[in-house]
Amino acid sequence: MAVVTETPEPPDATGPVRVAGPVRRRRPAAAPPTEGPLVDTYGRVHTDLRISVTDRCNFRCVYCMPEEGVPFLPRADLLTFEEITRVVTVAHRLGVRSVRFTGGEPLVRRDLAELVAMVADVGFDDVALTTNGTGLAALAPRLAAAGLRRVNVSCDSLRPERYARIRRRGDLATVLAAMDAAEAAGLEPLKVNVVAIAGVNDDEIEDFGAFARRTGREVRFIEFMPLDAPGSWRRDQVVPASDVLARLDARWPLKVVADSGDPAPAERYRFRDGGGTIGVVASVTRPFCGTCNRLRLTADGAVRNCLFSDAERSLRDLMRSGAGDDELETALRRAVWDKLPGHGINDPGFLRPVRSMSMIGG
Ligand code: 5AD
Ligand code: SF4
Repeated sequence: MAVVTETPEPPDATGPVRVAGPVRRRRPAAAPPTEGPLVDTYGRVHTDLRISVTDRCNFRCVYCMPEEGVPFLPRADLLTFEEITRVVTVAHRLGVRSVRFTGGEPLVRRDLAELVAMVADVGFDDVALTTNGTGLAALAPRLAAAGLRRVNVSCDSLRPERYARIRRRGDLATVLAAMDAAEAAGLEPLKVNVVAIAGVNDDEIEDFGAFARRTGREVRFIEFMPLDAPGSWRRDQVVPASDVLARLDARWPLKVVADSGDPAPAERYRFRDGGGTIGVVASVTRPFCGTCNRLRLTADGAVRNCLFSDAERSLRDLMRSGAGDDELETALRRAVWDKLPGHGINDPGFLRPVRSMSMIGG
């Protein structure tokens, strides 16, 4: 991948955990179907597309980016709005029903509302966005008018100084105000993503529970995954979802929200007294790969079938060499077909992906 670097030495995105693993063994032999939905060899039907619109970000969260020396894609490598719209139109024809804009930080892509309008016009059931919240207060009305339905705002601490330490840039007050502005613009239900890291913010689990109860926002505790660019992830930094749930349940008894059949990764719980909803995304301790319905488009136009897969296909190169929509369809079908059964984080031979979170899109 072509990258420009701010400093001569880009971070070692491969990190410390790297050996070949058993989950990465299998290559499906048969060819993917030429009609019907986007299905893989395990029968998982793919209906959700995450669209990364930029690998850039105005933050440098400790669990995602290094503080300095972030390698960024040259602008010419990014898909244009027209190219993104073309891909999502083909994906929609193949059964994709929900899209989410991600980054990097999606709001740093200029004129994002225009892209939202173009994509929303394709006719998805759900159009969402994940953001760090800076810039959201000003943009929320325009995004909502363009067809955005809802947002997830990441916020890993409710203590201003700690917030600043984790995210390295930006400030808590701005992000809390952005949540209010998003709701005022109708971008609801609003979800709050918290990456829980042991010894960093895990003493705030109950505070976030109280926040969810007070605001009606669904707080989602995400297990720290080995996708940080500095490659410093350690298993003992993961706060297991079961611990989060036990602690919240001890304070405010919880009741699981009946499985709606939705393969969304968050396991959702309601406070029994009716005080709101929380979620856990247990990617490490209770992987949900078996029901994964997600497909990803990176900012430079590669289709990825998993956060943890390094097998990519460049739809951008196909488009720029004059390929027709049928060739895009074939590439999408193949990408899904090649999906492995799981991410293998828990296998002794786990190999972390070369791209980190901000380069893939969360
Ligand atoms: N582990 C878990 N979640 C992460 N995110 C970014 N990096 C990681 C990581 N290493 C989350 C952010 C954001 C979403 C896009 O991904 O909190 O909510
Ligand atoms: Fe930026 Fe999101 Fe990564 Fe934080 S997690 S550095 S906000 S892309």
